[in-house]
Amino acid sequence: MTDTADTYVAAIDQGTTSSRCIVFDHSGAIVAVDQREHRQIFPKPGWVEHDATEIWSKVQAVVAGALARAGLHAGRLSALGITNQRETTVLWDRATGKPVHNAIVWQDTRTAALCGELGGADGQDRFRERTGLPLASYFSGPKVAWLLDQVPGLRRRAERGEIAFGTIDSWLIWNLTGGPDGGRHVTDVTNAGRTMLMNLDTLQWDPSVLSAMNVPEAVLPEIRSSAEVYGTAVGQLSGVPVASALGDQQAAVFGQACYDVGTAKNTYGTGSFLLLNTGNRPVPSKNGLLTTMGYKIGGEPPVYCLEGSIAITGALVQWFRDQLGIIRSADEIETLAASVDDNGGAYVVPAFSGLYAPYWRSDARGVVTGLTRYVTKAHLARAVLEATSWQTREVVDAMYQDSGVRITALKVDGGMTRNNLLMQHQADVLGVPVIRPRVPETTCLGAAYAAGLATGVWNDLDELRSHWRKDAEWTPAMEAPVRDREYRNWRRAVEKSFGWLE
Ligand code: G3P
Repeated sequence: MTDTADTYVAAIDQGTTSSRCIVFDHSGAIVAVDQREHRQIFPKPGWVEHDATEIWSKVQAVVAGALARAGLHAGRLSALGITNQRETTVLWDRATGKPVHNAIVWQDTRTAALCGELGGADGQDRFRERTGLPLASYFSGPKVAWLLDQVPGLRRRAERGEIAFGTIDSWLIWNLTGGPDGGRHVTDVTNAGRTMLMNLDTLQWDPSVLSAMNVPEAVLPEIRSSAEVYGTAVGQLSGVPVASALGDQQAAVFGQACYDVGTAKNTYGTGSFLLLNTGNRPVPSKNGLLTTMGYKIGGEPPVYCLEGSIAITGALVQWFRDQLGIIRSADEIETLAASVDDNGGAYVVPAFSGLYAPYWRSDARGVVTGLTRYVTKAHLARAVLEATSWQTREVVDAMYQDSGVRITALKVDGGMTRNNLLMQHQADVLGVPVIRPRVPETTCLGAAYAAGLATGVWNDLDELRSHWRKDAEWTPAMEAPVRDREYRNWRRAVEKSFGWLE
């Protein structure tokens, strides 16, 4: 029998603004964490890029940092799991391992016009039945097509098999397992599902979508399950099995133990992503949600989710801090917002990347509305926080319309769940309790769990479920008439954000 006291699993969470590595013990408790930010590159309004080489070096640094803090050498890790910002698109040269362009980040809107053309007479839902997704600049497929068309000579090289495409999971697994010297070019179903190129029923690349988007098969990674050994790491993690990959939101589903149909979680990061487990069959959405993969553990049947994706929530607080300079640290927003009783009539709609669920309007742009001379920076701070809870409320309403499942409580995680004022407002506007688990790092935890399942560290979902513990709960306290009035005002503000892109 394994000595479980001596068993460790590490997970890498490569996110939109930073990379993190966490080492967990057998009980799912955190042993050590390291984290580093990377550059956000904004070449033009609406464009967002990352340097994939910088990301890879930051990932190596946080792995070294976490191991040092844990006082462990790599040989003590039973497995490594990967979780990542989804949709962000990297194309690299297979021979040199160098990216051929900056990575195009999920928030980038440069492909909005291309998406319009691709929809043609069929419109935004042309590929929805096959892929579960509306045509939007959010997803990777159009980003790949854009790069192949815009980088001189790239399409020809791609067709010759010299170029590899990957979302960040693929990029990391390829580098971890050897890069140009034998690295594995794979992805998992949760990440592949966000390219808009994977067929949701076959879990393989869809030939008709590939041909419509003009993406050559030669660039694509192999699609695998979310929990299996893809390869063995080389370098500082030499010998460690790389044993899971999940998009960060799906990893949070897994870490929050949302294993039963009807369970849901909301993760508050750069954006917020609410996922509801709908079981072994994809449920189509008629109300602006995405049909997406939840996870697939080895050879077991896949689990699907409905997802409400909100592009900008935590990033609005960052904008308030960095671009407007009204606060110095993200945590200060709570104190500032708590210094007034309400939003003073102001609403902020952060349509910085258009609006995602449930609207999917790439022509939307951010608005601040309801301003009078009465409004202070404290009211604006409240309006910034409230934008997160109202966007979540819209997604929860769409979930109910699509699935008939009324959420009775919402499991939450992510950095913004430290903000009590926001969490109370979230419970108030949803009218249901909001619950935070004791291990708030559910994204890394989910990737670690999946890697541990693939390598026999943990036996089954019941064992993982038994680790989950409640840390905090907020119960709704707002009067219904106030809630209804505020919701109406929010929706009027949203209407004002439409139609800004010619
Ligand atoms: O779909 C985008 C999402 O995966 C990004 O998550 O946590 O990096 O903001 P995060």
